[in-house]
Amino acid sequence: MKRVIFDTDIGIDDAMALLFLNYAPNVKLEAICTVSGNASITDVNRNALYVCERFGIDVPVYRGASGPIGPALTTGYPDFVHGRNGLGNLKYPKPKRRSKSIPAAEAMLRMARENPGQLSIVAVGRLTNIAHALNLCPELPDLLKELVVMGGVFMGGDHGGNVSPVAEANMGGDPAAADEVFGSGISTTIVGLDVTQNTIMDESFVAKLREHAGDAGQFIHDITRYYFDFYESINHARRCPIHDSSAVAYLLAPKLYTYKEGPVRVISEGLAMGQTILGEHPERYAIDAWRDRPSCRVCVGVDAKGVRALYQRCLSNAAIA
Ligand code: BDR
Ligand code: CA
Repeated sequence: MKRVIFDTDIGIDDAMALLFLNYAPNVKLEAICTVSGNASITDVNRNALYVCERFGIDVPVYRGASGPIGPALTTGYPDFVHGRNGLGNLKYPKPKRRSKSIPAAEAMLRMARENPGQLSIVAVGRLTNIAHALNLCPELPDLLKELVVMGGVFMGGDHGGNVSPVAEANMGGDPAAADEVFGSGISTTIVGLDVTQNTIMDESFVAKLREHAGDAGQFIHDITRYYFDFYESINHARRCPIHDSSAVAYLLAPKLYTYKEGPVRVISEGLAMGQTILGEHPERYAIDAWRDRPSCRVCVGVDAKGVRALYQRCLSNAAIA
């Protein structure tokens, strides 16, 4: 059984990832931590509460960081991708639930201390909350089982960044936090655009969910209208990458991925801000920026068909829930 804290800037693909975790067998979702990114912290927090309420996900929601710990490449929110409220402008009733009063970083730390070596974090937004938790307790890496991050791009294949030629959004939104987390020694796997942009979903994928995944399928259909409109406007096709659910897929079925290992740095200033660079052979270079940093696993290949099938399989549990 994987015990999971989901750290999210809950927009459209994050909501899909949350449902994936919720309906996956062998996952116990322990908490949701929110962080600004796809929309403001107020909006993403409300989105988390709404999705929990609608799907009976009975876990605490902890409100997290409203902004980055350092300079960011991006300012404002990507409403052209996720809509003004982060959920594709879906209209929904005000949630009755409230988030907990302690901040996300403190909650993470408290849970990790109470369950040493037991908890995995799936982080699909900026890494600000985890950086704050590390600043509160540098021993956090010893208390966590693992961290799976959706973020970055390592320039394998044809892929560049999605907020600059070299930067992915979750990294560009708080590069200093990401650099700190990747250097912390938490057992970390990074699922970046190199693989998420090779894991494509289209309208037929959503239609199948709508048919077989009950209200979850309907919800995914509704929130992805806006998302597909955006992708159609740039790619001229109603298809898009499966970003955040790829981190969940790695957690559930790591065999679907191949990876490289090495220290990862995130550029936190200048034109290349947000760029993620894997130093596979740090000993080869005179420069020591990658030396003496812990290794991360960086996904470079994916069985995309396997990921899509896994998602459909897990979501079909929604129809019987
Ligand atoms: C990442 O950025 C956000 O917009 C998505 O939710 C995803 O986590 C993709 O670059
Ligand atoms: Ca996200």
